[in-house]
Amino acid sequence: MTSYQRIQQELYENQYCWLITGVAGFIGSNILETLLKLNQRVIGLDNFSTGYQHNLDQVKEIVGNDTWKNLRFIEGDICEINDCRIACEDVDFVLHQAALGSVPRSINDPILTNENNISGFLKILMASREVSVKRFVYAASSSTYGDQPDLPKIESVIGQPLSPYAVTKYVNELYADVFARCYGTESIGLRYFNVFGPRQDPNGAYAAVIPQWIAALIRNDTLKINGDGETSRDFCFVDNVVQANLLAALVRRHQSVNQVYNIALNERTSLNQLYAMMRSLLIDKFPDLRSHQPQYSAFRKGDIRHSQADISKAKDLLGYEPTHFINEGLTCAMDWYVANLS
Ligand SMILES: NC(=O)c1ccc[n+]([C@@H]2O[C@H](COP(=O)([O-])OP(=O)(O)OC[C@H]3O[C@@H](n4cnc5c(N)ncnc54)[C@H](O)[C@@H]3O)[C@@H](O)[C@H]2O)c1
Repeated sequence: MTSYQRIQQELYENQYCWLITGVAGFIGSNILETLLKLNQRVIGLDNFSTGYQHNLDQVKEIVGNDTWKNLRFIEGDICEINDCRIACEDVDFVLHQAALGSVPRSINDPILTNENNISGFLKILMASREVSVKRFVYAASSSTYGDQPDLPKIESVIGQPLSPYAVTKYVNELYADVFARCYGTESIGLRYFNVFGPRQDPNGAYAAVIPQWIAALIRNDTLKINGDGETSRDFCFVDNVVQANLLAALVRRHQSVNQVYNIALNERTSLNQLYAMMRSLLIDKFPDLRSHQPQYSAFRKGDIRHSQADISKAKDLLGYEPTHFINEGLTCAMDWYVANLS
């Protein structure tokens, strides 16, 4: 039995109360789906700034009306301490996902990113401490590695941040650490690397590359690759991220707590390889793609050239074992993409 199977077993047998912030977003709604399927009680907090009611509706349809009753949704803002306090009442575990994502967004509006990602983080952390939640698990980010050139990335070796977004995610780690020292709180930060999967927003100027490209391919639209296409990333299917959140919440070993962990695959896929994978997965359904070619444009400001995670710390201390490699993740998500992005 894997650590994750043991945790799932524990959850089937014990009902806890979880707070998911950012529950109407991509990752939050995937965690929600898993927790509800495991018969857990969930408080969901979201202000719909980048999340959607339709993400919640899709989860409701998947889990059914009866199970859906285990969710209490609060439309609210992590920047409001009262919303945080209301959301934290009776909660055992906090899985904090709410933040304004996107490096370019933070370069365009650093104040807004700071308010949501630092002030909001501090408020939800504070409200969690006031009611002594069992553990506070939060979404950190691979952007914290900044200009550190070594590969694969090891948690203890970071560089200078390359964007306001990266600053905010690093400050989250500092606050979590300081709260542990000053107040004895238990937290775990998960440095996600490029996550993808169902319910990731394909639209808007700040969309992530995978849903944006799949939408472009399905519609046979222009698809733009920033740079020469040899930029690479450790793309991580969302089920692996859900697994990491549940392991982090329930891991018992003392040495595993108050740490940060890389969550990815320890694989590197170039944008050119990613494009080829997606095109070949779609070509049977969309034969016009045989003649599709990407357009290359300038490199994007604030982007690092390569990224790859060392995941041995998460394997050793959390029992993390990714269940989906990139092609498996893309294959799993393809039906959703075709149904929702056409
Ligand atoms: N997707 C990735 O590849 C990736 C990589 C590294 C880190 N992360 C982090 O993971 C988390 C989830 O990202 P995602 O991809 O699901 O993004 P998302 O935009 O789909 O979800 C974020 C959710 O948080 C909500 N939110 C934002 N500000 C809020 C506020 N002030 N109050 C209440 N709700 C608020 C949004 O409405 C949205 O539903 C974020 O913290 C992000 O920084 C994501």
